[in-house]
Amino acid sequence: MRITPSILNADFARLGEEIARIPSADAIHIDVMDDHFVPNLTLGLPVVESLRRATTTMLDIHLMIEDPDRWAPGYAEVGAESVTFHVEAAHAPVRLARELRRLGARAGVALNPATPVSAVENLVRNVDMVLIMSVEPGFGGQKFLDLVLPKVAAVRKMIGDADIWLQMDGGVSLETIERCAEAGADTFVAGSAVFRAEDPDRMVQALKHSAMNAANAKGTVA
Ligand code: DX5
Ligand code: ZN
Repeated sequence: MRITPSILNADFARLGEEIARIPSADAIHIDVMDDHFVPNLTLGLPVVESLRRATTTMLDIHLMIEDPDRWAPGYAEVGAESVTFHVEAAHAPVRLARELRRLGARAGVALNPATPVSAVENLVRNVDMVLIMSVEPGFGGQKFLDLVLPKVAAVRKMIGDADIWLQMDGGVSLETIERCAEAGADTFVAGSAVFRAEDPDRMVQALKHSAMNAANAKGTVA
C-alpha cells in the first residue's frame, strides 16, 4: 500500500517546504496540466527539475497534457522515477511506455472516468502502473466518483500477479480509501485530504493504515 500525496493543493510558493511536511509519503504526486487536455494550467519541467533537487523522495509525475509522446520523456530525463501519461492523449502508447522505461523511469498509463478499461488491455504488460481517475481530471477537491470502482476491480483482474501498481486519483480521503482498496487499488493519490489536514503527515499515515486494513479484511492486496 502506497500513499502518493498530490501537491496540487499545497502552497505553490513553498513547494520544497510543503514536501518536507510529509516524510511518510511513498512518492510525491505532481500534476502537470497544459490547459488543453484539461481546463487548468499548473507547472512543468523546470519546476519538476527544481523539486528533484529539493527532495530524494520518489517523484510520481501525472501528465494531464496533449502530446505526451513529445513531452513525457523529458520528465524521465530529469530524474522522475515514475511518469504517467493519459491513454486518451498518447499517439503511440506502447512506444512511449518503452521509451520511458529505457530512460530509467517507471511508465504509467492513466484513464479518465469515462474511458473503458479495454483501452489499456493491450498495454498493461508494457507499463509499471495503471492510474484510474476517480474524478474528471483538472482540479483538486472534487467529489469521488463511485462509478469507477468496477473498473478498478477489472484492472486488478487484468494485472493478476504481475508487479504493476494500481493507482487511484481523485477524491481519495479517509471516507473513500477503503472502498478503493477493497476494489483492488494499492497506490493512492490524496491532494486536499492531505494538504488541508491539520497534520498532513499524520493524515498520510492514517490513509495508509485505513487502506491496509480494508485490503486485509477483503483479502485483496497486501
Ligand atoms: C486531479 C489531479 C489529482 C488531484 C487530486 O486532476 O490529477 O491528482 O490533485 O486532488 P484531490 O485528492 O483533492 O481530489
Ligand atoms: Zn493526479
